[in-house]
Amino acid sequence: MDAPNQEFALAGSLEELKAKGRLVVHGCHRPILVIYDRGRIFALDNRCPHMGFPLERGSVEDGILTCHWHHARFDLESGCTFDLWADDVPICPVEVRNGDVWVKTTFGHADPAAHWHQRLADGLAHDLGLVIAKAVHGQLAADAPRADIVRQVALFGAQNRDGWGVGLTIHTALANLLPMLPKEEAYLALFHGARRVATDCDGEAPRRERAPLGSRPDPAALKRWLRRWTIVRHREATERTLLTAIAAGASPAVLADGLLAAETERAFADTGHSLDFINKAFECLDLIGWEHAVAVLPTVVGQMVAARGAEETTAWRQPVDLIALCDEAGSQLPELFAAGRDHGWSDHAALARELLGDDPIAIIDALKAAIRAGAAAVDLSRSLAYAAALRVARFGNANEHSDWETAHHVFTYANAVDQLLKRIGTAAGDVTAVRGVLHGAMALYLARYLNVPPARIPGEGGERLDDLPADPDAIRAALLDAFDRQRQVDLAARLVARHLTLGYSPQALIATLARALLREDAGFHAYQMLEAGVRQFTAWDDTDEGRHILIAVARYLAAHSPTERAALQTADIAQRLMRGGELHEAGAS
Ligand code: FES
Repeated sequence: MDAPNQEFALAGSLEELKAKGRLVVHGCHRPILVIYDRGRIFALDNRCPHMGFPLERGSVEDGILTCHWHHARFDLESGCTFDLWADDVPICPVEVRNGDVWVKTTFGHADPAAHWHQRLADGLAHDLGLVIAKAVHGQLAADAPRADIVRQVALFGAQNRDGWGVGLTIHTALANLLPMLPKEEAYLALFHGARRVATDCDGEAPRRERAPLGSRPDPAALKRWLRRWTIVRHREATERTLLTAIAAGASPAVLADGLLAAETERAFADTGHSLDFINKAFECLDLIGWEHAVAVLPTVVGQMVAARGAEETTAWRQPVDLIALCDEAGSQLPELFAAGRDHGWSDHAALARELLGDDPIAIIDALKAAIRAGAAAVDLSRSLAYAAALRVARFGNANEHSDWETAHHVFTYANAVDQLLKRIGTAAGDVTAVRGVLHGAMALYLARYLNVPPARIPGEGGERLDDLPADPDAIRAALLDAFDRQRQVDLAARLVARHLTLGYSPQALIATLARALLREDAGFHAYQMLEAGVRQFTAWDDTDEGRHILIAVARYLAAHSPTERAALQTADIAQRLMRGGELHEAGAS
């Protein structure tokens, strides 16, 4: 059988096509449907772009092809869909030569990266999960840099919603993890981030830009103004002040100091989310480039000025006025740090244990003593984050399920404070921002009953856990298996402990935890927990403390698994459609 060239395949004779109305061409290419309709011939991918069902079983009427599985309609000539959720069906050239019908078997785009960039824009604009998944896969297959995809999604989210949201937080958290993820998990991470940003923006009014002031006040004045406008909840004034600082060329460290000082005018605002969003906006700019600061950073201001502080809640006022304790200690911070000896303080774990105490005055005193002994702000926040991870690692199974979120909030808040204080470093003119540590310590104190009785941390004191597998692959497989079943919190913790105490790769374990998360229809907090846990683990590395942190992550994830995994199904279908394989047998019902 001769072909006009190797890219074409014989579909059949024109006479046969006219008689049957449609033919399907199979081969080592994707199945191609050839349709004869009112004197014209069309060739399309036979797999419905929605879920891959065979289009040969669809109907053609008035130039419209209908797939009967979910009733998506397609323009026969262009393949374009009338139902955006289904996506367009690829078409291919067809030729009639000497009474035979030949179809080109390759589907491609002149510039695949540009094509899939545009399709991602379409998917984001219309909140189309399947289109987003295909576009992410297409860009990765076209070797588009992951950072370009992260940037496209982040800027879409910043511009198409009036304020930073859950979607951008998830997107940034997952983008932070990308360097640690294998190829398959990287695809899922980018897909989840993009789909959550699209959902956040769906139906929302786009963001209105504001302009910086015409003057360039000194950094100290701008910091004072940020605090002043935040206190009185004046959003426009806060945004213009922030934009002015950016326009004046303030460094990321100085901007972080100004925003953290303003944010901590309220204690643990919006159960820590407001501060976490600020940190994530900074991390987002690290990923996509600080030239986008004007587009991204002001998005956090709306929530920051509107957030409800803990000072407005009874638990923080009675029976002990924790706000008064924080205010008093906060006023002493400049003096304490000025007097602190720089002796290379390193008692992070010991301070963490004191922070887990049940006397708020003793907790504040422990922080003050650490400063006097030479602890820097980042030492305090590191201890706080570790202590908060221990709250999760020891979370009692008798608590209500919703209590997990209380423990989670303190941990992600502490991690955000830690990341921001690291960023600020020595750039701050004062230590106002360290109030975040005081507030976090009080939030941790209020969550103390979540460890009554405490869950046992496995792997302590040389515990070998020999009833569990010894092979690293088998341990990780057992861990994924545990996440397949409900209430496997303690087993997940034991498997993590087993993996680490036997000295196996923490990176492989983290990739497995990421896999466990990315296959679920995970809630917002689960993404935060994994990313914050990995961040804090890297500070401790493969130590007892590092093990405790990853146990905390595994326990939280196990408590929230499994889910329906609908998003994974979408990602899987998109991937299989993009790879060209048949998803359904034509004869299957
Ligand atoms: S509409 Fe064709 S598979 Fe859903």
